[in-house]
Amino acid sequence: MKKNVSVAGFSKFSKDQKINWLIENYFDNDKQVRNVFDQYLISDKSLQDIHDQFSENTISNYILPYSLAPNFIINGNTYTVPMVIEESSVVAAASSGAKFWSTRGGFHAEVLSVTKVGHISFRWKGSLEILNQHHESILSDLINYTADVTSNMEKRGGGLLNIEFVKVENLDDVFQLRAYFNTCDSMGANFINTVLEAYESCLEIYFDQTEELYKNYGSIDVIMSILSNYTPECIVRAWVQCPVSELNIADQMEKDISSLAERFKTAIRIAEEDTYRATTHNKGIYNGIDAVVLATGNDFRAIEAAGHAFASRSGKYRSLSHCEINDGVFTFELTVPLALGTVGGLTSLHPLAKKSMEILGNPDAKTLMTIVASVGLAQNFSAIRSLVTTGIQKGHMKMHLQNILNHLGATPDQKNKAQEYFMERRISHSEVREFLLNN
Ligand code: MEV
Repeated sequence: MKKNVSVAGFSKFSKDQKINWLIENYFDNDKQVRNVFDQYLISDKSLQDIHDQFSENTISNYILPYSLAPNFIINGNTYTVPMVIEESSVVAAASSGAKFWSTRGGFHAEVLSVTKVGHISFRWKGSLEILNQHHESILSDLINYTADVTSNMEKRGGGLLNIEFVKVENLDDVFQLRAYFNTCDSMGANFINTVLEAYESCLEIYFDQTEELYKNYGSIDVIMSILSNYTPECIVRAWVQCPVSELNIADQMEKDISSLAERFKTAIRIAEEDTYRATTHNKGIYNGIDAVVLATGNDFRAIEAAGHAFASRSGKYRSLSHCEINDGVFTFELTVPLALGTVGGLTSLHPLAKKSMEILGNPDAKTLMTIVASVGLAQNFSAIRSLVTTGIQKGHMKMHLQNILNHLGATPDQKNKAQEYFMERRISHSEVREFLLNN
């Protein structure tokens, strides 16, 4: 590999030229490398073109497993949930959580609010008090000025809800016009950014042409306009509930059910108090959430960013889920921000995302929020269930063994023997290789 390789006009190269350049510069001109990239290309050219257009400078496709987690009962409806994830045990854990709760009333979920937010940030010499005095006229100005851009969204029942002014902490003379939106079934990033950018110049004109403002404080300097991916008012709560007596979470009951329930609750309390544990705990929740978000063509980076910010809303990063045991009833719940879209974006373009939506019965955005939150909760339930009983390595290593066996090209017979042999033994790449040499 050559060090410090740079290139001019790379985006203008054809796909072939890009691969040739890569092989020449990073793989000692080894022509075999092309096969590795080519084998993931889709033979149907028009389909490959669709994928190429999702990004830039594409030379291949990076394939992730597409799985199904059946038996999710959510608000009385049964779903088979598509999940795109590369980590062993995640789909198995989601499915097992779904199955466990399917005989205990299933998952319940409620969308608490669907408001999204965007900001125009600007520098100005005035005060928040003066800005607030102009709230009504700036709001009506904004509504009138962006009517063309918002009319379709308004027909669908959404649009701009309100605005407020905020002062940015610790920065002299920096304010934000914070705008609140309902973007219905679309995630809303494009809509919100378009409205805000359209309004920027109008806001500048407002300050310049309102005499008393201009005379006393001069023009505003718009720094930027962009939606916020923090959506603490676009949230959903999912929960499961059953009598403690039905919470038989361990296969072999070496402990009584109520002490297991208490262990489970303590595990959640630890994640509520300890940020180290909370991070891993919430990561487990996003194992489930991200997988459905990806399968439905939504933006998992936005969803994760919002979730982690929400987990820190008390000033400390904590568990997103919560557990209660009251009067013999076990309740486990998850409240998360989920700014999801079911129209537009990748959801409407990626053939598999479209199929995912069909599998889920073409839900609207609110229903998708309830599904995704329930999968996150199921994932978290199964992880904690394993952690407070058998530990996660048992199930995880079984999957890990499968991966190693596949990687080493084991025959079906060898795989069966290996599953038995490694049941109670430590699994490592070298030990599995050793086993295959002798079997
Ligand atoms: C692994 O991807 C996720 C877990 O670590 C989550 C957790 O510890 O709660 C199992």
